[in-house]
Amino acid sequence: MSVYMPILPKNIKKYVIPALLTHSKGEFLRDIQMVKNARPKAKLVQLDVCDGKFVDNTTWGTPNQVKNLDIQMSFEVHLMVKNPEKAYKQWIEAGASRVVFHQEATKDPMSLAKAIKAAGAKPIIALNPDTSIVLEPLILKEIYGILMMGVHPGFGGQPMVGGTIQRVRTLRKKHPRLRIGVDGGVNAKNAQKLLDAGATELIMGSGFFKNNFSKN
Ligand code: DX5
Repeated sequence: MSVYMPILPKNIKKYVIPALLTHSKGEFLRDIQMVKNARPKAKLVQLDVCDGKFVDNTTWGTPNQVKNLDIQMSFEVHLMVKNPEKAYKQWIEAGASRVVFHQEATKDPMSLAKAIKAAGAKPIIALNPDTSIVLEPLILKEIYGILMMGVHPGFGGQPMVGGTIQRVRTLRKKHPRLRIGVDGGVNAKNAQKLLDAGATELIMGSGFFKNNFSKN
């Protein structure tokens, strides 16, 4: 059963990274299969990791459980957790090639970014909608990119917070070469506007899976 990337113009699909936010092994395996069946194939998948403390939601899957599933595709973890310093290493050992951590969850993003790099993965800093987009110049040398949150994290299917596109545009203007992903509320209606504003990756949860569900 082949499923298709959401109803997006072809030129947009290459920017899409599907995001899994699941609460059971069954859901996780179902969504991974959907990502694998989608055409064109996504370059990697984002696994949302919610600890029920940093966000009011708890996702399925410890690093070992995910490692044992051997999903056979590149993945990053989006750590929506209180102590990303304690979590990143096990996820890298489980196979995560990129680690997204929240600026709001650490007192020392610079050290955490360096530690993630030293452990062999690419560090990405997520900024919540209310967090300043003024970046410490030195941190730019350590991180792979920024993940601009379009929603307050923890749940899929939320509408994008107003002003997100403008935040992307402002960040792009200040940092012409910075990788900027957008995560939360991304859909077929705002995707092109986000790219035009300077986004380089579009992380999609419901905008990806809902369309595919509707396809079955
Ligand atoms: C938000 C998560 C997102 C979310 C995206 O809490 O970080 O990755 O799963 O879901 P949509 O695309 O439905 O907003």
